[in-house]
Amino acid sequence: MPNPPGFVSLVGAGPGDPELLTVKGLRRLQRADVVAYDRLANPVLLKECRLDAELVFVGKHGDNPLHPSVPQEAINALLIAKARAGKQVVRLKGGDPFVFGRGGEEALELVRAGVPFEVVPGVSSAVAAPAYAGIPVTHRRLSASVAIVAGHEDPLKGGSSHDWGALARVDTLVVLMGMGRLEAITAALLAGGRAPHTPAAAVRWGTTAEQRTVTGTLATIAAEVRRAGLTAPATVIVGEVVQLRDELRWFDLPFHPEVAEAVGAGRAAGPLTP
Ligand SMILES: C[S@@+](CC[C@H](N)C(=O)[O-])C[C@H]1O[C@@H](n2cnc3c(N)ncnc32)[C@H](O)[C@@H]1O
Repeated sequence: MPNPPGFVSLVGAGPGDPELLTVKGLRRLQRADVVAYDRLANPVLLKECRLDAELVFVGKHGDNPLHPSVPQEAINALLIAKARAGKQVVRLKGGDPFVFGRGGEEALELVRAGVPFEVVPGVSSAVAAPAYAGIPVTHRRLSASVAIVAGHEDPLKGGSSHDWGALARVDTLVVLMGMGRLEAITAALLAGGRAPHTPAAAVRWGTTAEQRTVTGTLATIAAEVRRAGLTAPATVIVGEVVQLRDELRWFDLPFHPEVAEAVGAGRAAGPLTP
């Protein structure tokens, strides 16, 4: 007897605060036979899975020899094999699966393998980390355009596919994966004509108990981040909207008891390492 058809749900886990998982994402997790999860997906969410669900860590750890990364081909093969075995598979990814999450690549592999799938979007760190730092990425007076940019290419070594001159003209620039190249990125934006006094911020582990924010200007943010010892994962925001944080910061204040209660679950989440 052939197995009943399996199915893959590419689910966005949200940026860290477990309460930012969507209702649909939660339902998929609760019924899954197999969950393949990333390093940036909050492991607290795995408590929602069935006790007999198979949980597979498929995170990428950069150069950490103690935790070698799982190659993308192996992840694709796992999803396809489990679905072909008739399993309900959840591929749980940090933030949104289609925002720098390789969700598009995985979905294409599923299509090519004839495996039915769906995408359950998630709250991306690109908007949530700024929001928890009190920075709206648009604002009627200050910003009518936003660009979300991958910062892991070196703008100074000719290896970058970005037009930094064009990006310098976008009102709000949100840079993911940019902590290792912040000097080069800010230099490229300055060379592209962005004013040195443009406000800038870096938000590390946004929406979690570990959230930490460093602010400065386009000219100073790289040095401020180095001085503070802020490392990945962090989201960098450049634009006039960053100045609103002075009035709008709400999550990382020594805060009002009512706010503390409202965000309590997120704050209790703790560090997100597996
Ligand atoms: C491979 S990308 C994945 C982005 C994810 N798909 C999303 O939509 O948020 C990883 C980068 O997202 C950013 N990031 C993810 N979680 C974050 C968080 N909680 N706070 C700040 N930045 C975060 C960092 O720039 C990190 O290097």
